Amino acid sequence: MSNPLRRPMIAGNWKMYHDLAASVTLAKALAAGTPENGPEVVIATPATALTVVAAAIKGSKVKLAAQNCHWEKEGAFTGEVSASQIKDAGCSAVVLGHSERRQYFGETDETVKKKLTSALAAGLLPIVCVGETLAEREDNRTFKVLDTQLTGALSGFGPSQLASVVVAYEPVWAIGTGKTATPAQAQEAHLYIRKTCARLHGEAFAAGLRILYGGSVKPDNIDALMSEPDLDGALVGGASLKADSFLRIINFKAPARA
Ligand code: PGA
Repeated sequence: MSNPLRRPMIAGNWKMYHDLAASVTLAKALAAGTPENGPEVVIATPATALTVVAAAIKGSKVKLAAQNCHWEKEGAFTGEVSASQIKDAGCSAVVLGHSERRQYFGETDETVKKKLTSALAAGLLPIVCVGETLAEREDNRTFKVLDTQLTGALSGFGPSQLASVVVAYEPVWAIGTGKTATPAQAQEAHLYIRKTCARLHGEAFAAGLRILYGGSVKPDNIDALMSEPDLDGALVGGASLKADSFLRIINFKAPARA
């Protein structure tokens, strides 16, 4: 983490965990424990918990995100929620294209792009997830996959339209497996992502783009990850479900770099 242009972000992805009572308890603990001058802190709760968590974190530094949204503003789309609806529920951000959505729910680069368009139109900060599977990595296709996913989601916009966008690099083989990418592996991918974004939208855009790492981030590996120059934060699943571990991640210690 190096560039002062890029305020670090630590985002928690609660996935399909926690009932309302547990959600409110956790949100209140995070609101109370999040430092004034630390990283930007975001929690992505299940859709059912958005409104109660919005109330629980009101007036704090913690921001609220949804884990997905539909691309249409409204309509006959049973089971879906729109970007404007999650905004209305209290969200200022949304996670898009998470690998679990790609893997289990047919999310494609095309739908990610449509969702990105609607999230931006609703004024939400989009966290766009990319990352390769183990088979793709072993087949030396990591960069190719990142290129395709980034181009698929981010081309066709102007850089100023994408000013709020955050990219999350989440190697699928590291998600929920306890197998974190090494700081060097993460840095290599982040640098590639930044270069690809420079090619798509120019150097200034790429220099200001925040790129989060996700995949088994824990209190005991966050400091080393955040020491890498192109890591601007983390997207945390399992370790975001408990206040003590997520607060330790929020309070990461990284050496200052020039
Ligand atoms: P994990 O999940 O931290 O549990 O590996 C990360 C994610 O899916 O965003």
